[in-house]
Amino acid sequence: MITDWHEYRLINGAIGNLIDGLDESDMKRVVRHVFDSGGKRIRPIVLILCSELFGGDADECVDAALAIELIHSASLIHDDILDMGITRRGVPSVHKQFGQAAAILCGDFLISKSIELISKYDRAVIQDFGRAGMSMAEGEAADIGSRENSFSEENYLGCIDKKTASLFAASACMGSRIGGAPPHSVSRCAEFGMHLGMAYQIVDDILEYRELQHEKKSVNTSTTLPQILSAASSAEDALNRSIREVQYHVDESRKVISSFGESDVRDKLLKIVDYMTIDLIEDVEIPSRFEVAV
Ligand code: FPP
Ligand code: MG
Repeated sequence: MITDWHEYRLINGAIGNLIDGLDESDMKRVVRHVFDSGGKRIRPIVLILCSELFGGDADECVDAALAIELIHSASLIHDDILDMGITRRGVPSVHKQFGQAAAILCGDFLISKSIELISKYDRAVIQDFGRAGMSMAEGEAADIGSRENSFSEENYLGCIDKKTASLFAASACMGSRIGGAPPHSVSRCAEFGMHLGMAYQIVDDILEYRELQHEKKSVNTSTTLPQILSAASSAEDALNRSIREVQYHVDESRKVISSFGESDVRDKLLKIVDYMTIDLIEDVEIPSRFEVAV
């Protein structure tokens, strides 16, 4: 179980310390709501593992891992404002629970804290981090635009690359840099993270299309790959093609990781790939099981 891994305990401990260290205030209550609601902590775990892959020490990258989780959380808080999200992780979204001002400010607070945390690392790590944030904002803008403009498969793939895959890529890349990986391996790790992020977002969108997202609900929804593909073919075909796209990115991400030497860390990264992709759609994977929706 991933929750038994020391990387998971390390990031959860860092989140707990962050919250405990805050002054009693409205901000602390909102931050607590965000992190008490759960979350898989996959991005920071990927960062720590990619450092360990090259002999890095987990304790040395925990601040970077925390920065990644904070910026991810901030992006979801802001996304819920933009999407009019009602619930996330089975609880009311931050703006529903505390109001829009508190939600915007909590996002601001988490982004600012993440900058403080990342500032102690090398310039290349800080750049990866800043660029990922910029990509996420661009991707979110494209996502919002997708509701009004025509949105092709290519537009969709570009959008999720920026809004989701960029942070996975940055996590893997930053971890490998902190662990002392040579430049070629840093690029390979970024590639791994990108494919993992692409596969994960398509899986998330397949689950939404099949109305299997029970933990989150929003008024505005994104334009997803199965939706785009179903405009020109049956829902069954659209789902099959979407799953093939997932499989492509899963295979590519596995290929990168498998090219590194055998180790427990490598096996953990391979496990994460399955956990975030194939495992989540195992119940909807067999095409013949789909009733054709219209
Ligand atoms: C979820 O998409 C949203 C994202 C992956 C990115 C959100 C990014 C921003 C709001 C830009 C802010 C950037 C920073 C750096 C804080 P979704 O709506 O498809 O997923 P969901 O179903 O989980 O809501
Ligand atoms: Mg959303």
